[in-house]
Amino acid sequence: MNQEILHILKKYLPEEIIRTEKEFLIPYGQDWTRYHQPDPTAILFPRNVEEVQEIIRLANEYQFVVVPSGGRTGLSAGAVATNKEVVVSLDRMNRILEYDALDQSLRVEAGVITQNVHDFAKEKHLVFPVNFASEGSSRIGGNIATNAGGIKVVRYGMFRDWVLGLKVVTGKGEILDLNQGLIKNATGYDLRHLFIGSEGTLGMVVEATLKLTHPPKDKQVMIFGIPDMLRVVSVMQAFREKIDLLAFEFFSDNTLDYVMEHTQVPTPLPKRYPFYALMEFESNNGENTDKVFQLYQDLFQKGWINDDVFSDDEITMKKLWGYRENISASIAASIPYKNDLSVRISRISDFLKDIEKIVFEYYPDFKVLWYGHIADGNLHLNIIKPDEMEIHTFEQACKKVNDIICPIVRQYQGSISAEHGVGLLKKPYLIYSKSDLEIEYLKGIKKVFDPNGVMNRGKLLDI
Ligand code: MLT
Ligand code: ZN
Repeated sequence: MNQEILHILKKYLPEEIIRTEKEFLIPYGQDWTRYHQPDPTAILFPRNVEEVQEIIRLANEYQFVVVPSGGRTGLSAGAVATNKEVVVSLDRMNRILEYDALDQSLRVEAGVITQNVHDFAKEKHLVFPVNFASEGSSRIGGNIATNAGGIKVVRYGMFRDWVLGLKVVTGKGEILDLNQGLIKNATGYDLRHLFIGSEGTLGMVVEATLKLTHPPKDKQVMIFGIPDMLRVVSVMQAFREKIDLLAFEFFSDNTLDYVMEHTQVPTPLPKRYPFYALMEFESNNGENTDKVFQLYQDLFQKGWINDDVFSDDEITMKKLWGYRENISASIAASIPYKNDLSVRISRISDFLKDIEKIVFEYYPDFKVLWYGHIADGNLHLNIIKPDEMEIHTFEQACKKVNDIICPIVRQYQGSISAEHGVGLLKKPYLIYSKSDLEIEYLKGIKKVFDPNGVMNRGKLLDI
């Protein structure tokens, strides 16, 4: 079968966009998850929208499955090719197309690396305010396909909030130009938002118009030592009541071990504490700084915070952020099983109590790392594979516990994937966040845009 597909690809597509060597098949057949064996037929590198259209036209005519591929930094196996699929990488569609100073918008090809958008915005004294650790490798199309979140969501929202327009090639090979960069547009269904977060199952995003904004002023960063995880929530709530936060992140002490080892940095505070929170806010001419320090004194007296480090200079703030931003890379070699859960902020304390109990009871032998975006109600619960354990035995053990955790997520009306997407990894658990009826509607929508099931088949949904 894959010889036939290869023959078709070679017959109709320019030779220079087709790669079949192992050094392409293996890396482009997988993402940052490590639970699947890559086995694609070929990797294609289209250079323009017409070539993407032609690939999808061929997929429909000759019945092969296309896996859209961005920076492959995904954590839910949304961009893996395990079943002879044809991977379509947008690495070569990486041009910044148009900047409009009046609209404060930027039109880019979907293969642009996220960091390049940040750098471009900075040159214009603006920001693209969606930040995450993988922004040096992830690409705009992948960010859109997964509705990426990150470390500034408490202030700026998710990726979808910064997309003003999209050009997509649907699963039928048609082109849709959606929302055309408009801020106001009340003309019925907004298909742009269907494609955001669709994980390449409806079509391929080939171009996006992104919104930029003014950078925050006079940023300040603090890291606190905190005695337990529930206190992290109370501390976050106390600060939120006083000031508008730019970020409020947390991590456990055993997570810090990995970062210190991997990046060779000292502890952020003179002593070690069970948990740490990193808070970023704007000084607001000293008004917020005063409020923060007053509250800090109160919380310190109450024993909610044990210690802190503060900075308002760029270099030190960057170093402090390193403790949080380097977590994912620092633990990657230990093959963590990742849970990416969220509930409404008002329910996070009760939720945490319930989940902590389960983790304690069911994972007594595994190392459990906690970190995440507590101010968005988003917890990353990472289970570390013991060195001697075979990867699939480990995965099965984690899945058993998921069967207990996920019903609790449903009970709290939470999400089984707050920001990492569903892909293959979270697909069995989608039923805990969406009703059967809702899933039927999703399948119906997929059939509208991709009637022959050529787009990322089997990811997100079982069709
Ligand atoms: C993060 O918050 O660091 C990212 O979501 C990646 C991860 O969970 O490892
Ligand atoms: Zn995260």
